[in-house]
Amino acid sequence: MELSYWQSRWNKHKTGFHMQIVYPLLPPHWPRLALSKEARILVPLCGKSLDLNWFMEQGHYVIGVEVSELAIRTFLEQHDLLDEATTDSKGDFTIYCTPCGEFWVGDLLKLHPNWIDPIDAVYDKAAIVALREDQRPDYARHMRTLVSPDTPMMIQTFDYPQDEMPGPPFSVPIEEIESYYGDRYTIEVLEKRNRLDDLAKFKQRGLETHLWEYVLLLTPKSAK
Ligand SMILES: C[S@@+](CC[C@H](N)C(=O)[O-])C[C@H]1O[C@@H](n2cnc3c(N)ncnc32)[C@H](O)[C@@H]1O
Repeated sequence: MELSYWQSRWNKHKTGFHMQIVYPLLPPHWPRLALSKEARILVPLCGKSLDLNWFMEQGHYVIGVEVSELAIRTFLEQHDLLDEATTDSKGDFTIYCTPCGEFWVGDLLKLHPNWIDPIDAVYDKAAIVALREDQRPDYARHMRTLVSPDTPMMIQTFDYPQDEMPGPPFSVPIEEIESYYGDRYTIEVLEKRNRLDDLAKFKQRGLETHLWEYVLLLTPKSAK
């Protein structure tokens, strides 16, 4: 989707993708990454997700990237971080900095790898699935430049017949994730659940056959 599509959704408060709770599959599976408390977590396309705050509560340092300044300001405000945040800029980005995280407002594809300090893990939740098929290869290629080959990733994805419902979220089967990252990573399914009956809004949009939600752990092959 174009950036203007997302900006418009945020400006019109059409943010049905935002969850009012921490993503329930995050706390049970995150320990598998075996990270230190101070680990630096890259959260692409982060919105105002409560998961950002959950990471901070674990002691992690968050690097969120999001095109909507409204989303980032709302997140900071809701977590009493806006007043203490300082702002900076780099390229086309405005950066909100807090003691436990920095939030880059702009197009992820324009984030230069040299601008961010080393990342210990990536959390891709409702991120790759937010992008059209023709946008995903560039996104994945860019993500690979932002992290070193030994950086683990957790990815949430959906698998459903794309011809039954337009995205977002788009169907991004495991094979596609494999095509982007399989040379570097071993991909393990941490969770697979059928969401067709819980996500009634997708049924209303035409989906009828199946909707699988996956949580994947990508472990660097170089770490073995
Ligand atoms: C489906 S939402 C998911 C937000 C968040 N990950 C969550 O789980 O609530 C996708 C988000 O990506 C942002 N976005 C889309 N394309 C982007 C891009 N190229 N760079 C930065 N943010 C982008 C949108 O503004 C939107 O907030």
